[in-house]
Amino acid sequence: MGRNERAGIEAIAVHVPNLYLDLKDLAQANSVDPAKYQKGLGCQRMAWPEPDEDPVSMAAEVAHRLIDSYAVDPATIGMVIAGTESGVDAAKPIASFVHGLLSLPQRCRTFDTQHACYGATAGLRLALDWCRTTRKRALVIATDIARYDVHSPGEPTQGAGAVAMLVGPDPAVVQFEDPVEAVYASHVFDFFRPHYRSTAVVDGRYSLECYLTALENTYVAYTEATGRRLLDFRYLLFHVPFPKMAWKAFGRVYDIEQARNHTELPSKEELFARMTEPALWGNREVGNVYSGSLYLSLASLLEADDAAVEGAFVGMFSYGSGNCAEFLAGRVCHDASVWRNRTGLRQLLAERRRLTHAEYLALREPANPAPFTPSPRRYRFLGIENHQRKYVGPKASHSRNRAGDAYAGL
Ligand code: COA
Repeated sequence: MGRNERAGIEAIAVHVPNLYLDLKDLAQANSVDPAKYQKGLGCQRMAWPEPDEDPVSMAAEVAHRLIDSYAVDPATIGMVIAGTESGVDAAKPIASFVHGLLSLPQRCRTFDTQHACYGATAGLRLALDWCRTTRKRALVIATDIARYDVHSPGEPTQGAGAVAMLVGPDPAVVQFEDPVEAVYASHVFDFFRPHYRSTAVVDGRYSLECYLTALENTYVAYTEATGRRLLDFRYLLFHVPFPKMAWKAFGRVYDIEQARNHTELPSKEELFARMTEPALWGNREVGNVYSGSLYLSLASLLEADDAAVEGAFVGMFSYGSGNCAEFLAGRVCHDASVWRNRTGLRQLLAERRRLTHAEYLALREPANPAPFTPSPRRYRFLGIENHQRKYVGPKASHSRNRAGDAYAGL
């Protein structure tokens, strides 16, 4: 079978937990000026999972939303990849749980891809190459819970959520260009989570330096290979551990281009407002979702009230601590009716409930969960029985009534 150049994202959906902590409340409890969290880090609120919500239930939830809202025929999915750093088992991947919960076809590959926040990008790249040669469809899911110690510098940058992308040969959301090997890796301990810990160990300042070094390397590799320059992109998206990081990242790219001195650039502030800021509103609301944070930005951009999104050329930088990074690019497809208001992001944010700081602290203790009213979700974690994790939720079924026949199968 010949190589198919048209590969990309056919559908994208988001899951955000129903609970959130406002960072004004966290700042007050920690006796910190709220401006440090809101302006210094760029965070407004952070999503927090319910006691019966975990990386598997979030992944199943978002996969179900994608299948439902784009009327995808589950029988056309030939590969499920979960990009995550929140694995629940040392052997059985989250992709396998999702495959079972949604009753996806047995003629299917299922596995997880892990490298901190780069995991989902590794899965996406793999899926794109597989689709280009097989013309089949893969479900790539980023699912993570970002958790740091109470009172640690990372605490205001927590979050939780999942993003699902249907990757296939008929992209209606983003078509990726032919792959460029704009990648970078270096064995560092900037951020990691040993198996015996539930929270990450992070050297915050060092991790930002590692991120910027990786960005510089991948951006230079990409621009040298393609001849493209900053102004060739309409939007520039970054991995977002906290939104201010996107500003720092944009600044590094801007400095590289200024040093090249090819063209007179508008001011950094003006370009950032035009190229990156429209993609950050979701990250400000949800917090860090690790492997999904770049794709949460992509969903935010698609759901932004910005007509320029259709047909826009988008550069995307993915960074995973430890570390591995990649710069990739693609074009948003023209038919906004396919993706506008379909990701679920706006609806989920509108329905959330604000936690008090005391409830947030109680929810951090699994042995003593705060009393809560569960939100209307499809998938729930029931507990562990005979060493097996048990979940409840419906199978996925194919409905054609919303998107017509466009996604009915190949
Ligand atoms: N008003 C406005 N801004 C304020 C402020 C105030 N009252 N007080 C502080 N700030 C600013 C600081 O100037 C700083 O901005 P800058 O980085 O542009 O200089 C920012 O807020 C953060 O303040 P800082 O004192 O550096 O915070 P910190 O040392 O407590 O923690 C991080 C910052 C980023 C190191 C920490 O949040 C962290 O470790 N985060 C996780 C890192 C991570 O995710 N790494 C993975 C990389 S992918």
